Amino acid sequence: MICIGMESSAHTVGIGIVDGRRVLANERSTYQPKYAGIHPRKAADFLSKEFEPVLKRSLETAGVGLDDVELVAFTMGPGLGACLKIGLVGAKMMAQMLDRPIIGVNHALAHIEIARTLCRCRNPLVVYVSGGNTQIIVREDRRYRVMGETLDIGLGNLIDSVGRSIGLKHAHGSVIEKMAREGRYIPLPYSVKGMDLVFAGLLTEAQNSLKTHRSEDVCYSLQETAFSMLVEATERALALTKRKELILCGGVAQNSRLQEMLKEMTKPHGCRLFVTEGQFNADNGAMIAMTGSLMYNSGVKMKLADCRVVQKMRVDEVEVVW
Ligand code: FE2
Repeated sequence: MICIGMESSAHTVGIGIVDGRRVLANERSTYQPKYAGIHPRKAADFLSKEFEPVLKRSLETAGVGLDDVELVAFTMGPGLGACLKIGLVGAKMMAQMLDRPIIGVNHALAHIEIARTLCRCRNPLVVYVSGGNTQIIVREDRRYRVMGETLDIGLGNLIDSVGRSIGLKHAHGSVIEKMAREGRYIPLPYSVKGMDLVFAGLLTEAQNSLKTHRSEDVCYSLQETAFSMLVEATERALALTKRKELILCGGVAQNSRLQEMLKEMTKPHGCRLFVTEGQFNADNGAMIAMTGSLMYNSGVKMKLADCRVVQKMRVDEVEVVW
């Protein structure tokens, strides 16, 4: 079944086309504000402008026409309302014009399902890390349960904020990772509350430390502290669930130091770490298409009139029927 998936929850418009587990296309365009975080209206303007060229590229790459599309999937939430609506309108219009079924997908669930499918994992513990999210997730019966999460900002947001304080313009995560290789450790606040994490104090202190320390030292210490917090909570979850597979997914999953630390932690537990390709960890349309197909083929149906966006949609709200 050929499914087209539209992702527009934050700064990226992504349109992917899949045929079952096979990804035929995964095109995207990302809004990169120069000096601050994402301004919702400016991001939505960017996404609406980029929607059509990304769709065109996606159809060309997949080598299919609109008539070949059998199912239309879109990101329902969580995300920025103004941005989510771009994908919703595009998907509704396409489903109506083509007279095809439509399905709304939870963004976090899509990150998990594409990683689980492509890594061929059966029953993993999941660490989902992106700009706005940091969650330790496990499937129990018909739900993904959040075992631990950030109580304030997401890990990606933490790194991006320090990146902006340093004066970096783009690709904060990868630049900070590179700078961290030249750094030395300075103590920063470490805050794990049971299974949950708090990053705000770490952010403030890292920003203050930039006045008195080399940026490289702050980058190194920021990564070591934040990642250690996440690894500690994840190890606790692993000890409780005794899962033998650990998936690291989401935009921050590509950080090689985080991968290295999680890998080291999983070894004594007889657990293996899985990370899929970068293009499927960043926000993308293929994950929406793949998860939409999975839902539809498992009997989930949605009426056109019921399609809407839900800005604060949690992963544990979705019944997992597959
Ligand atoms: Fe995401």
